[in-house]
Amino acid sequence: MNGYYSGQILARVDELADPCAIVVRTDEYVTLIVTRRGETFAAFRNKCPHAGYPLQRADGRVIVQEGRYMVCAAHGASFGLSDGACAGGPCNGDGLESVAIVVRDGVVSVA
Ligand code: FES
Repeated sequence: MNGYYSGQILARVDELADPCAIVVRTDEYVTLIVTRRGETFAAFRNKCPHAGYPLQRADGRVIVQEGRYMVCAAHGASFGLSDGACAGGPCNGDGLESVAIVVRDGVVSVA
C-alpha cells in the first residue's frame, strides 16, 4: 500500500499555478506534492529525505523559490520542482521520491 493508486486524480491542470507546488491528500495518512513548472508536471511523496517531515508550512503551503525550487519548511532543504533533486540545504544530495503521473485531458493522475 502506497497510499495512492493508479488512475487516482491528483489535480486539474487549470488549477495549478505556474510555477507551483501543492499538497494533495491521497488517503487518510498520505499526501503527495504535485508540481508545475511551465508545461512540466511532476509528483513526489511528501516526505523530506532530511528528517522525514512533510514539506509544507503550517498554513499548508509549500514555499517555491526562484520559480524552480520547493523548500522544506522544517529546515530549509530545497528540491527541484520538476525532478525533486536536492538543490541545497540539509538534504545532502538526497532527493524526493518521485511518483509517476500521467497528464491527459487537463487532468494530472497517478500513472
Ligand atoms: S526535514 Fe526537511 S529540511 Fe529537515
